[in-house]
Amino acid sequence: MAKILITGAKGQVGHCLTQQLTGKADILAVDRDELDITDREAVFKAVKAFQPDVIINAAAHTAVDRAETEIELSEAINVKGPQYLAEASNEIGAAILHISTDYVFEGTGTSEYKEENKTNPQGVYGRTKLEGEITVQQANPRSIILRTAWVFGEHGNNFVKTMIRLGKEREVLGVVGDQFGGPTYAGDIATALIKIANLIIEGKTDAFGIYHFTGKPYVSWHSFAQAIFEQAELQKIIENRPVVNSITTNDYPTPAKRPANSRLDLTKIKQIFDIEPSDWRKALENIKAYA
Ligand SMILES: NC(=O)c1ccc[n+]([C@@H]2O[C@H](COP(=O)([O-])OP(=O)(O)OC[C@H]3O[C@@H](n4cnc5c(N)ncnc54)[C@H](OP(=O)(O)O)[C@@H]3O)[C@@H](O)[C@H]2O)c1
Repeated sequence: MAKILITGAKGQVGHCLTQQLTGKADILAVDRDELDITDREAVFKAVKAFQPDVIINAAAHTAVDRAETEIELSEAINVKGPQYLAEASNEIGAAILHISTDYVFEGTGTSEYKEENKTNPQGVYGRTKLEGEITVQQANPRSIILRTAWVFGEHGNNFVKTMIRLGKEREVLGVVGDQFGGPTYAGDIATALIKIANLIIEGKTDAFGIYHFTGKPYVSWHSFAQAIFEQAELQKIIENRPVVNSITTNDYPTPAKRPANSRLDLTKIKQIFDIEPSDWRKALENIKAYA
């Protein structure tokens, strides 16, 4: 049985990874309380003791606005932690799968970003995630970086849950209509990572490197909110859907600048691993699980 170490196991993606791998692989699924990835000694000890074939790192400092002031913490979790995991996996000959983000790009224009396009993060979260990508690749050549965006799932906080809550409280709300991206179901990210992990473990691929994986079709947050309310009303989670006004990024100032264009080109992951984009509309059909 394949041995897989999952870090950040209680997060949105980590939870789905653990769920999907239980009974299918020999897993060690740990979160901060069991393995703090910023503790170098603890990381090496855990990796050497468990001897995984693959590490999947789903741990991160994902609070984008807080990161602007929690700079050292962001660097520790998004750069140092991944570095220790990559070094430790490299030392025992294991591969590492690491998750990154659309925030590594500036997010201008309307075209889809390819893996090799120029990065230019606009905030601390994006910068530290980019440094994490680089350090992982340097420390372990047998690494996969999966960049994703707009993640939502049954576990943890996300936009879908926030909208359902607001939909119960308000009759009118404003949602940003000038940022575009692909909402991505955490369960689909887990499925994609597990597929790649299995191919690596079975020796069927050595196509290490950076990959983009998000949901399709691309939408604005405003359109995504409307799709959420449609499902929520249909499935009687809310009585009446609220009026959703489209507002601009300038109308809703936040400490961290967000990319206006989070569209990622998904050709490479399809070509190399035959992985289709996440079908976020299908994932929303299970909206009761998010309420
Ligand atoms: N969420 C998004 O929209 C989004 C978009 C693009 C990319 N991503 C990337 O996708 C990946 C997964 O995101 P997610 O949404 O599943 O994140 P999440 O729900 O915030 O989960 C991250 C997990 O990592 C844990 N963690 C934090 N610091 C740790 C440490 N020092 N040691 C061990 N565990 C630690 C967190 O624990 P605590 O709860 O205790 O902090 C949490 O359980 C991340 O790499 C993220 O950057 C996310």
